[in-house]
Amino acid sequence: MKIVERISDLSPPGERRRVLVPTMGALHAGHISLVRLARESAGRDGEVVVTIFVNPLQFEPGSDFERYPRPEAADEAACRAEGVDLIFRPQPNELYCSDRSTFVEETSLSKRLCGASRPGHFRGVTTVVTKLFHLLAPDAAVFGEKDFQQLAIVRRMVRDLNFPIEILAGPTVREPDGLALSSRNQYLSAAERRQAPVIRAALLEAARSPEDSAERVLTLVRQKIESAPLARIDYAEIVGADDLQPRLTIAPRTLLAVAIFFGRTRLIDNILLG
Ligand code: PAJ
Repeated sequence: MKIVERISDLSPPGERRRVLVPTMGALHAGHISLVRLARESAGRDGEVVVTIFVNPLQFEPGSDFERYPRPEAADEAACRAEGVDLIFRPQPNELYCSDRSTFVEETSLSKRLCGASRPGHFRGVTTVVTKLFHLLAPDAAVFGEKDFQQLAIVRRMVRDLNFPIEILAGPTVREPDGLALSSRNQYLSAAERRQAPVIRAALLEAARSPEDSAERVLTLVRQKIESAPLARIDYAEIVGADDLQPRLTIAPRTLLAVAIFFGRTRLIDNILLG
């Protein structure tokens, strides 16, 4: 396994199928499931590339950029165990010039859900993903459904800007109690961690509900989440899974997406309804 930190040390993809898994490191079983999808797609002779980059551009000022975990040795070991061919792990000043003034922005899907609570976040994501696509020129790239809005935005960007890259999606990997794996789960106190599975419980309750009014389903979801005293709802919305625009009724490809604060830690999850 090669580990590259400098752009000038990257070699072009060559003839082998190259599949990219962009991450911010602190790899957990969710990331690893994407690496396995990448290997399936690349084939034994293909090349699986994992990027590890805590992207300053997608963190709002005053958020957790500095304290975001960076367990380099453990990430390397996890990639080696999965047969990853290349880790690209640049420092911020390798990817960004201090006087950078060009960004890639998706202007519709990015406005809603997490985009409304985290202004500039998705511009940071689309900019860095574009740079990684250019630098690594993969045939395909894998993203998790855990970040459903991010996946939709990347698909839109690839379509709108004609990237010759296939976007593959992996299902959300969860703890046995239903909590979606996230690098941010480690910020939770013991009491918050005990209450966090209420998120998944609320999503499942919504999916089981025979209600077809979005407002009534959202009332159920809010009541369930508010039954956990440490949970504070950032948003709970029912939207179309492709356009992320609000829906009044539950139909096929309707998405319920939530963001919930436990203390300062913000957790997101989603489920398809209908
Ligand atoms: P990061 O949060 O490290 O996530 C990297 C990839 O892992 C994303 O595609 C995300 O959706 C996926 N992922 C996270 N938790 C998951 C889980 N529990 N199950 C399955 N997949 C999961 O998302 C980012 O980094 C960044 O925004 C990035 C795309 C790398 C751009 O900086």
